[in-house]
Amino acid sequence: MLIKYTINTLIYVFFTLVILTFSFPASSELSVEEIIKGRKALFSKNYSTAKRVQAVASKGDFEKAKSLMLEMSENYKILIDYFPENTQEGFKTEALPIIWEDKENFNNLMTKASTDMIELTRIIEDSDDIRGTLQKFMWANCKACHSKYRAPH
Ligand code: HEC
Repeated sequence: MLIKYTINTLIYVFFTLVILTFSFPASSELSVEEIIKGRKALFSKNYSTAKRVQAVASKGDFEKAKSLMLEMSENYKILIDYFPENTQEGFKTEALPIIWEDKENFNNLMTKASTDMIELTRIIEDSDDIRGTLQKFMWANCKACHSKYRAPH
């Protein structure tokens, strides 16, 4: 009787722990430091990927360029969740407070940057001005956002 009771309790505790573990989204487990450093790392990665896109597309390697474009598109989608309210300062962030006053527009710019990378995969091969097309659908989006939402440096 006592043993059965103990086993039932253990099973109950086990499943409660399993449910608690899986019912929180991953981002809520990240600290402010991890979020700010995480988004900086993602932006830096997108920057080096953007330079590679430019290099391989200029050489005519469109298959490689397209897979890098899709990578950037996905990173922008991830970045949308990297600006919670509690990450407005600290850890050398260059994010400006206006992001949180203007969150809808900020998110729209991030989504546009993401969908423009998908659009690029469709049009890059037939473009007769590779540089100009990348300027319009990739680099212009960096500037449009930074000029308003990232501290000048
Ligand atoms: C919708 C807004 C938005 C778009 C689009 C965007 N950025 Fe940024 N970027 C930011 C913000 C905000 C920061 C500051 C993040 C921080 O310091 O917490 C940033 C930071 C950076 C950093 C600095 C990372 C570090 O280590 O501090 C680089 C590099 C960068 N962006 C490159 C780019 C490039 C290249 C593009 C386009 C291909 C781009 N970003 C597109 C908003 C954007």
